[in-house]
Amino acid sequence: MFKVAYDTLTTEVWTIEAEGKDQLENGSYEAQVFEAVPSGDEGISIEALKAKFGAKANLGQGKGFKNKWIKKNGSNIIRLVDNITDQTKADLETVHQTGTHPSKDVIKDLKRRSLIKQNKILSYAVRKGASFSTELKRQATDLTLEMLQSGAWKTAEFKKFNFDSLGVSPNGGHLHPLMKVREEFRQVFFETGFEEMPTNNFVDSSFWNFDALFVPQQHPARDLQDTFFLKEPAVAKSLPDFWPVVRDVHEKGGYGSIGYRYPWSEAESKKLVLRTHTTAISTYMLHKLAQQPYRPAKYFSIDRVYRNEAVDAKHLAEFHQVEGVIADKNMSLGSLIDFLDIFFQKMGISDLRFKPTYNPYTEPSMEIFSWHEGLREWVEIGNSGMFRPEMLRPLGLAEDVRVAGFGLSLERPTMIKYGIDNIRALVGHKVDLGMIEANPACRLDKKMGKEVFQSREVEAES
Ligand code: PHE
Repeated sequence: MFKVAYDTLTTEVWTIEAEGKDQLENGSYEAQVFEAVPSGDEGISIEALKAKFGAKANLGQGKGFKNKWIKKNGSNIIRLVDNITDQTKADLETVHQTGTHPSKDVIKDLKRRSLIKQNKILSYAVRKGASFSTELKRQATDLTLEMLQSGAWKTAEFKKFNFDSLGVSPNGGHLHPLMKVREEFRQVFFETGFEEMPTNNFVDSSFWNFDALFVPQQHPARDLQDTFFLKEPAVAKSLPDFWPVVRDVHEKGGYGSIGYRYPWSEAESKKLVLRTHTTAISTYMLHKLAQQPYRPAKYFSIDRVYRNEAVDAKHLAEFHQVEGVIADKNMSLGSLIDFLDIFFQKMGISDLRFKPTYNPYTEPSMEIFSWHEGLREWVEIGNSGMFRPEMLRPLGLAEDVRVAGFGLSLERPTMIKYGIDNIRALVGHKVDLGMIEANPACRLDKKMGKEVFQSREVEAES
């Protein structure tokens, strides 16, 4: 079994303590004191001895009296003998040399005087064990088929199971940082009474992505440079029934509008695209909403959109859009501003400012800005607006139903939250899976909100 065996040996040895060392080297205190006393009747004053030896003087004198080497004469000490044998020093010498002393009484006395101390020394006597060999035999870890066939199992030495070792840790799934931040945004939406829209269609017709949003067919966003068109299938099988209403508003206007006044093409509208914004879904959902008896609604979605543009460290041809729409008879630009204030306050952003901008489907349209303490300037954090009647009315919504919308990117807050400055470290084949595994849970606490929306280091699109 064991290649080597051993016995444990305990030996007791006496060692010299600090006070003992002094006396081993310089003579016992009594001897030191004796040497300091000159022969003759004069002797030396007790004062002088104290001055010379300090605390040692008393101990030395006491032992000297006992040994009848010296005696008191008034306030002086005088010698009683001319020569002494320093037995204490000799005894210490013996202990120092042999670790013990033949006389038990001496040991007892030296110990009582704290000059020596007992120590235990552990040692091992090693010898050959039952299975001693000078060759290393490999221990088998498994019983194999070969071992059974050859009979090697009979003589094989098996390695013991180590039930104390930690097993291989099971590898569970890990959420991507984008999904962690998305989850936090979702909770803010749910808290404020929003319903989530189904966003599982990445391909949509130009009709839903552009036309139904009153984006003219000549709009630069519909260019091949900005939009991914599908090759196969290239076109949608059909358009929704109300497409002529959409055509009419583009060509002739209506609802107080004069329209774009160009010949609208059905073929152009059927072209399939990778959706360029989730507003395509919001539009579809608003159309669905309009088919039912009126009710106010709040919808949100957070999902991927695609744009055909130059890819660099900050931009990919895809990103996640965080989008919300609110449909209500009483909805106004003021209510949208109010809502955005509350929404961003949940992430610790308190001062918002709005700047007029242009979207084909909203009027008025506002870019959302937040004050950046560090940069001491206003930083853009999103886009928003009131959807135009040219978009809402053809969807079937009544004249008095107002719809507000807003959008921002998910990448920007995520990259800032997790300290990632290259978009390709977050999305795509260069992503380090270790980073995904190790990154912490996301909390959109007040502090994070500030960090996330007030930094300009990352400029993912919104
Ligand atoms: N679709 C817009 C964008 O791509 C965001 C937006 C949504 C703006 C709704 C206004 C209203 O930036």
